[in-house]
Amino acid sequence: MTADAQAAFASYQAESLEAIAGALSEDALEAVRVEFLGKKRGRLKDLQSLLGQATPEERPVLGKVFNEVRSEVESALEARQSELAVPEVAVAAVDVTLPGPRPVVGRRHPITRTMDDFKDIVGRMGFSVATGPELEDDHHNFVALNIPPVHPARDPLENFYLATASVGRADGDAAVLMRSQTSTVQIRVMEQTAPPLRIVSLGRCYRPDTIDATHHCMFHQMEGLVVDEGITMADLKTVLKHFATAFLGDDVEVRFRPSFFPFTEPSVEVDVLWRDRWLELGGAGMVDPNVFGEVGYDPERVTGFAFGLGIERFCMMRYQITDIRRFFENDVRFLTQF
Ligand code: PHE
Repeated sequence: MTADAQAAFASYQAESLEAIAGALSEDALEAVRVEFLGKKRGRLKDLQSLLGQATPEERPVLGKVFNEVRSEVESALEARQSELAVPEVAVAAVDVTLPGPRPVVGRRHPITRTMDDFKDIVGRMGFSVATGPELEDDHHNFVALNIPPVHPARDPLENFYLATASVGRADGDAAVLMRSQTSTVQIRVMEQTAPPLRIVSLGRCYRPDTIDATHHCMFHQMEGLVVDEGITMADLKTVLKHFATAFLGDDVEVRFRPSFFPFTEPSVEVDVLWRDRWLELGGAGMVDPNVFGEVGYDPERVTGFAFGLGIERFCMMRYQITDIRRFFENDVRFLTQF
């Protein structure tokens, strides 16, 4: 009796595992499930009746084998179910063998879209795109930008400082903070490149601001820098006016208000008149001769302008977004609108 029953278990096991592996669709697998594990007429029933016929001594041994076989078949079935379930949807949605353009899966984040648009616009004005690290050292975030050792911009309450000793950087400098502005990239580019220059740099900046509808502790800026002989404030205003018009439409007006930044002289705040409201776009100015001195440019020969524009602000105007926090919440209901 025991030998017969064990042979029956073994062939049940081999046949069911083979049928599970051979099922090529969820429907086929369901048929296999009904045949081998079905509660009413499944072959498991036959095995159970063999158990019923066993003597009381044989039953514990056979019962154990029965349970092992059943749970092995059940887990093989579950594994196969999940294998078959996933790809069918994906295969139906994207047939990678079809000729033609790639299907659009996912979307660009509104900030990424805005940055791509910015690059297009300034690209047409001859700017190339430069990048710099988000973890910066004291030299590039402050010293070379003419920000003296005692200056409110260095306040620990205004910056995300990191433990200097523990963060080593490949270029030998110790990172001290998450950059608070993209102006750091001006310095990095000028250190590496002789004038003339016409670059923008787009990326993240970090400041421990209190988060509300218009402020975040992480935001994006587009920094611009033009250096050549004979560059004036008029060139700055022309570039920003063209830029704002290209992004927001013909009816915008750009205005400068006097301001102060340690690395530009004179310095201005840039506003744009859009739909009857003046909105602040960022800071700008003529590069301070001290900054040229730091990077080995001759301030007697070249002049230049720089600007730093808040990307979130442009993006919010363009898409009528009223709360900056929406950008970084990853709520698909928000993101799928763009
Ligand atoms: N870096 C300045 C800021 O973050 C903006 C700026 C950039 C000002 C370039 C002048 C020149 O506020």
